[in-house]
Amino acid sequence: MEKHKEENHNNLMEKIISLAKRRGFIFASSEIYGGMAGIYDYGHYGILLKENIKNAWLKHMIQIREDMVGLDSSIFMHPKTWVASGHVGGFNDPQVDCRNCKNRFRADHILEGFGINADKASLEFINAELDKLRADKKLVCTNCGKAELTEAKAFSMMVKSNLGSPVDTLNEENVVYLRPETCGGIYLEYKNTIDSLHPKLPFGIAQVGKAFRNEISARQFIFRTREFEQMEMQYFHDPVDTASIFDMWKKTRYDWYLLYGIPEEKLRFFKHLKLAHYAKDAYDIEYDFESLGGFKEVEGIHARGDWDLSQHSKFSGTTLDYYDEEAKKRFTPHIVETAVGLTRLTLMFIDNAYTEILSEEGETRVFLKLDPRIAPIKMAIFPLLKNKPELVRSAHDLYLELRKEFMCEFDDNGNIGKRYRRQDEIGTPWCIVVDFDTMIDGTVTIRDRDTGVQERVNKSEIINYIKDRLN
Ligand code: GAP
Repeated sequence: MEKHKEENHNNLMEKIISLAKRRGFIFASSEIYGGMAGIYDYGHYGILLKENIKNAWLKHMIQIREDMVGLDSSIFMHPKTWVASGHVGGFNDPQVDCRNCKNRFRADHILEGFGINADKASLEFINAELDKLRADKKLVCTNCGKAELTEAKAFSMMVKSNLGSPVDTLNEENVVYLRPETCGGIYLEYKNTIDSLHPKLPFGIAQVGKAFRNEISARQFIFRTREFEQMEMQYFHDPVDTASIFDMWKKTRYDWYLLYGIPEEKLRFFKHLKLAHYAKDAYDIEYDFESLGGFKEVEGIHARGDWDLSQHSKFSGTTLDYYDEEAKKRFTPHIVETAVGLTRLTLMFIDNAYTEILSEEGETRVFLKLDPRIAPIKMAIFPLLKNKPELVRSAHDLYLELRKEFMCEFDDNGNIGKRYRRQDEIGTPWCIVVDFDTMIDGTVTIRDRDTGVQERVNKSEIINYIKDRLN
């Protein structure tokens, strides 16, 4: 009997965090020193899951397209990059402190709790709304309950560092920043990409990498962290094509989620009503996180006009344009961007896959019903009995063969039921059992994680059997 997921709603996040730690997916960083808020480490199954999500993105963003190239730009970039982009001085969140308990909050999140949308609103608007709540005696700290919240002030999310210069001589001229988004590197490598690969417009540059933001409140596990990974793509095009290109990317990205098992009813578009002054259009793809109690952004699709290339051209003094040989015109390409958090998607896929089933014995069993293509381990191989050396040997030999093709595990610990349960919890789609019939006719059983159905398959057919299902 499958428990209705909504029953778990209230404590699903706790269950996910517990599973992630217990089974080696994700750990709070520096735990032995007391931990660090908003920073996480990925264990064995965590890196495999994250890597598979990344590869699923790369496959659809680069491998199966002719109009896309890849890039891996550095985390540190010339400090002027972030002046040109408007991040220095402008990449702020509105911060409110509690004078009593010293907790720190995002003012727009406080207002959201009162049904007031202050996303990207001005400090004047935010403080006026906070004042009204204060006057009505409604503005209290959600942590200690005291009416001691300060007014909102701008808090820079840029993470500063120093390269080559001692910390005490740092100033705005020699400070370096850890990139707050990966796309900055794409704009800086636009010219080298054009000069080396000669792509014709429209084309895109895609990259995956770390980004760093000094988030005020990083309290939702890996949903919002201070160090995270992004997968971003900038699509350079002639502005006459912006509308059709924007629609194409909205559909392409939305379909990707469906393809990897996210149900349509858990996805929606959110249209940005307040646009940056240079933006032409912006939508978020939102996923209905059961563990976070509702729809939240996972990806942004933005029509950015020629802002980025124009700004970097102005600040660097380097021309960043394009000559269209057919149309005989020179212009600065416009950009449609798709920007998604790899670590946030890791939470999304776990949230969607987490399933509890009440067994006939009254035991709660946990399954991660991940799409097999992103599951960390594709199959586990067991001998039926651990005290029969010929079964153990044969199962281990089979494991050594199969691991050349797939991420596999061998397990002869405990009884077979426990072994199935261990694999179900980490999302392994298939378990293969070597038994006495294997010794006679070379067949094994393959048990499907989601249906529990077992099929007998010849050992020589396993690779094709799994490949068929993965494709
Ligand atoms: N270049 C545009 C850009 O970075 P964004 O909306 O700030 O846009 C894009 O970020 C995506 O990156 C978000 O939709 C989210 O998935 C992810 N992201 C942003 N901040 C994050 C954070 N602090 N922790 C985890 N993921 C984050």
